[in-house]
Amino acid sequence: MAALNEQPLTVPGTGEFAGTELELLISRAEIDARVTEIADQVSNKYTGLCPIVIGVLNGSFVFMADLVRKLSCDFEVDFIKLASYGPAKKSSGTPRLLKDISTDVAGRDVLIVEDIIDTGLSMAFLKHRIEEVGPRSVTLATLLYKQDFARIDFPIDYIGFNIPDRFVVGYGLDVDQKLRGLDAVYALKEN
Ligand code: IMP
Ligand code: MG
Repeated sequence: MAALNEQPLTVPGTGEFAGTELELLISRAEIDARVTEIADQVSNKYTGLCPIVIGVLNGSFVFMADLVRKLSCDFEVDFIKLASYGPAKKSSGTPRLLKDISTDVAGRDVLIVEDIIDTGLSMAFLKHRIEEVGPRSVTLATLLYKQDFARIDFPIDYIGFNIPDRFVVGYGLDVDQKLRGLDAVYALKEN
């Protein structure tokens, strides 16, 4: 997507958030450095193994693509899709499976890759869904974590960045399905 010019970056379209200004929260360089660190840790953890890296659609596809290209261990990929927020900015409450994984993960090492943990409901649902198949191990990674808001009772193994409870877009994350192509993470300005 186009680089920042002098005009403030705003949400496009005619939806509820159209025209809302964006402010840079995490730069492309910061993301790149942190993804490299996480990839090194993941590579060390799985040396000599071959985990199945499961990306959570749609939001994690950019983080996932950058992360796996920095891995030095062998790996396979698969994807799972949950019902998204829909047009609103609020979590819908109960996650729903829209597309399941197609690999048999029984006895395998699994790395679940999320874009963001907000309430934590999606990650809890996914963890349970994968664990019931009987994998050898389940490891969790998220690029972003809303630390003051998430209510989860299990550890997240890899967290890219702790962020405040703001609505964010870019680097795979959307608002009304838009702005996923921004190469950094931006927060919607609040009025
Ligand atoms: P949770 O179940 O509340 O943790 O929400 C997780 C999902 O909601 C994420 O995987 C995202 O797809 C979406 N989401 C949560 N917060 C944001 C945000 O700030 N921007 C864009 N999507 C978000
Ligand atoms: Mg997501």
